[in-house]
Amino acid sequence: MTKSILITGAGGQVGHELAIAASPHRLIALDRRQLDITDSTQLAAVIEAHRPHIVVNAAAYTQVDRAEHEIETAFAVNRNGVANLAEFCRQAKIPLLQLSTDYVFDGSKKGAYCETDPIAPLGIYGASKAEAETLLQASLEKHLILRTSWVFSASGSNFVKTMLRLGGEREALGIVDDQHGCPTSARSIAEVLLQIADRYLTNATIEWGVYHYCNSPPTTWFGFAREIFKQAGGYHDLELKPITTSEYPTPAQRPLNSILDCSKIETELGIRPKSWAEELTRVI
Ligand SMILES: NC(=O)c1ccc[n+]([C@@H]2O[C@H](COP(=O)([O-])OP(=O)(O)OC[C@H]3O[C@@H](n4cnc5c(N)ncnc54)[C@H](OP(=O)(O)O)[C@@H]3O)[C@@H](O)[C@H]2O)c1
Repeated sequence: MTKSILITGAGGQVGHELAIAASPHRLIALDRRQLDITDSTQLAAVIEAHRPHIVVNAAAYTQVDRAEHEIETAFAVNRNGVANLAEFCRQAKIPLLQLSTDYVFDGSKKGAYCETDPIAPLGIYGASKAEAETLLQASLEKHLILRTSWVFSASGSNFVKTMLRLGGEREALGIVDDQHGCPTSARSIAEVLLQIADRYLTNATIEWGVYHYCNSPPTTWFGFAREIFKQAGGYHDLELKPITTSEYPTPAQRPLNSILDCSKIETELGIRPKSWAEELTRVI
């Protein structure tokens, strides 16, 4: 029997990559217009119509700075939306794969963050994602929380597209060089989520819980920008200047270190991190 995977947030970076991915299963990919995860009536109708075997939630409020003053909206989507999904998954006895973020950490750790490290978000976005993690852990046994970081893709808005736009407009760019993390392609995240879904749907056992997945190796925004312009080519006159976080104040505070240790997903599920530079080549 063909099994089906319900994908929410199909209009976003990861959601789009999920929607266009190859899978032996039926992918029901719905964007926000087709399914608003904060609307339980709509959600009930979708679950009833499609009877999915697993749900992958790629829908989220991801405006890190805007969340500082759109607090209610951030929590409505990132916490309450996940609560809705968890409740429908519990009733239907199906698992939920939920994406989370490196911004649940405060960045004070020396070294990469493991799944068991305490979470302590610095901003509203991180707090809303952290609350979703906590409620999911308390309400649905079959859940997998995949924390990732610094997502980029050819679609949507992200650092790669912002850099290429600004690089065409300005002669010099100051880029933050004291925040450390791992850029990760939306495509590789989608691949991992579908691999996990496939594993579940083909009856392999899964240790539910929190996993980290990002591309490697760690870098800074400055290091990422340098590689973006190198690969894009043609920006010979553009001057890139490394700056500190304090020289580029933003409404939301970001962790100085949000490097995720991905050894658990490799040991438990055999999934190895991809190179972000190679993923970037495909995107550029
Ligand atoms: N982007 C990053 O750097 C990053 C880093 C770490 C973790 N993550 C996590 O990875 C996941 C995917 O991120 P992404 O970069 O793909 O985000 P994205 O491009 O912003 O996509 C999120 C999608 O969710 C949709 N959405 C918003 N509210 C919704 C609602 N109430 N119901 C249904 N859909 C809704 C958005 O639609 P609209 O565009 O119409 O609002 C958008 O299409 C998220 O859980 C995010 O927290 C992202």
